[in-house]
Amino acid sequence: MDWDTLQKSARKNFNGACRVCRVCNGIVCAGEVPGMGGLGTGTSFTNNVKALADVKFNLRTIHAVNVPNLAVTLLGLSLELPVIAAPIGGISLNMRGAMSEADYVSAIVSGCAKAGVVAMTGDGPKPEIFAAGLAALENEKGRVIPVIKPREPKQIVLLAQQAAAAGALAFGMDIDAAALVNMTRAGQAVGPKSLSELKYIKQHTTIPFIVKGIMTGDEAEACYQAGVDAIVVSNHGGRALDHTPGTAEVLGEISQAVKGKVKIFVDGAIQTGADILKMLALGADAVLIGRFLAKAAVGGGSDGVAFALERLKNELQAAMILTGTADVKGVPPTIIRLSD
Ligand SMILES: Cc1cc2nc3c(=O)[nH]c(=O)nc-3n(C[C@H](O)[C@H](O)[C@H](O)COP(=O)(O)O)c2cc1C
Repeated sequence: MDWDTLQKSARKNFNGACRVCRVCNGIVCAGEVPGMGGLGTGTSFTNNVKALADVKFNLRTIHAVNVPNLAVTLLGLSLELPVIAAPIGGISLNMRGAMSEADYVSAIVSGCAKAGVVAMTGDGPKPEIFAAGLAALENEKGRVIPVIKPREPKQIVLLAQQAAAAGALAFGMDIDAAALVNMTRAGQAVGPKSLSELKYIKQHTTIPFIVKGIMTGDEAEACYQAGVDAIVVSNHGGRALDHTPGTAEVLGEISQAVKGKVKIFVDGAIQTGADILKMLALGADAVLIGRFLAKAAVGGGSDGVAFALERLKNELQAAMILTGTADVKGVPPTIIRLSD
């Protein structure tokens, strides 16, 4: 397998749903939701790209870091890289039938397992979306994190209990899907959650609870107060609300608020090992990767996903050597400089 062939194959299989551009910046797909783009003007997606580009590295090579450590333990599981596949659901709608829901989830989950990382899986109005994540657990016990829409708290607890019984590592809730119309139209209420509802969910579940879609320090603090185990700093790839900042722009202040109190994950246009290192320097413990791995899955199935993760690993290693970063744990902020 080589990179160009994988990209060409993805371009063909997507059938226009994603152009698999040489530079993925959210511009040609702006407004394509359903689809692979960002909502409305696409600004929240492009802000993710811009915020990452605004972070620059201090290149340093007078040091002894030849073989940096890329491995990390997250939620009790050892990972070869601080990377988790982001949940992507609604494959038939968003990817114009490039793959079935089950085949997509299986490619992502098994590709991640081959590369020594884990995957989150999605949820949506069709029961088969959440079910695909639970089904993937049959082959990869303990290596899947199903992410539930912000449904009624009792319903979330029920689905989280099903996930736990199926062997999930943890469960998540993408709280930024609180106004998702395709859920409400299908008669499945979603909405924002109060602090006491977050506490209720935490108290009635047994596996770690991750809240995805946090963009401010005060909400990160609220998650900590509720006993949440990890947050994902995310604007849902620009698909929830137009005109939000890029995640790399807000990660620093969120890290200041809760670093060391809850695990901090982040996503938003991460496409290279250097992007991963920037997010770690801004305070993330690990990153989620969505569209980049989706393209690999559509282009090359589970082998494509493993190949793409290997590419990220090599790039991360190179970026660590060239910034003198010895370990992915506790990456010092001094390796980066931020634009004004
Ligand atoms: C087609 C598509 C479907 C998605 N479905 C879900 C989902 O079901 N649950 C969820 O929490 N996030 C979902 N997301 C958001 C991703 O998990 C992620 O937050 C976002 O794509 C940002 O990462 P990226 O820039 O690396 O793609 C979806 C994103 C896309 C593009």
